[in-house]
Amino acid sequence: MALTGGSSPVQLYHILASPLYRGQIAWDKVFIFWGDERWVDLENEKSNAKMAFESLLNHLPIPDGQVFPMWAQGHDPETYAHHYEQLLQQHLGIMGSFDLILLGMGEDGHTASLFPDTEVLHEQSQWVSAYYLKTKDIYRITLTFPTINRSKKIVVLVNGQKKGKALFEVLKGNRNPTAYPAQLIQPLKGEALWLVDEAAASELALND
Ligand code: 6PG
Repeated sequence: MALTGGSSPVQLYHILASPLYRGQIAWDKVFIFWGDERWVDLENEKSNAKMAFESLLNHLPIPDGQVFPMWAQGHDPETYAHHYEQLLQQHLGIMGSFDLILLGMGEDGHTASLFPDTEVLHEQSQWVSAYYLKTKDIYRITLTFPTINRSKKIVVLVNGQKKGKALFEVLKGNRNPTAYPAQLIQPLKGEALWLVDEAAASELALND
């Protein structure tokens, strides 16, 4: 599976790591990757891996050799994106489909590190891409949409009223993926499950 970053999944990760749920998953059979990462070290508060280790992975019996942070010391992001792609090909096979990818969505309709008006939205051959995100002044590394859409299941977590407009545009608005990249979440053979709270769904309800 691939984990998402950001703040949306933190509560979910705590629940999954809790005694009530932790024992219900055969974690020794789970291989953990990430959907995207900010290019910062694992101690940086911005690190998606740091958040996932603290809220989930440090509490689970997953063998160390089965967790693959999307960052490593001494690499540049572009080189590491190529390395990560080789890692995915090694573990997912040449068909490269995840069993499960968790995603979030930003107020601007981005998902993973696939942001509006970026070249990476059009990437069709790379499984993993890295680029400098001007709007946030940081390098990002991300699965590309072809990789995301080969997943057997995609779960998108969206909560909060601030995401109401983007969620409406993504699920019911005019086709405009450059402005609302999450519109490109279109599983080829799998299923996309959107787990949204009432606040985020407020505009969907208005326009039913
Ligand atoms: C990241 C995430 C990103 C996130 C959205 C939503 O690296 O920031 O992977 O895609 O899912 O930005 O972020 P919040 O959950 O914090 O609203």
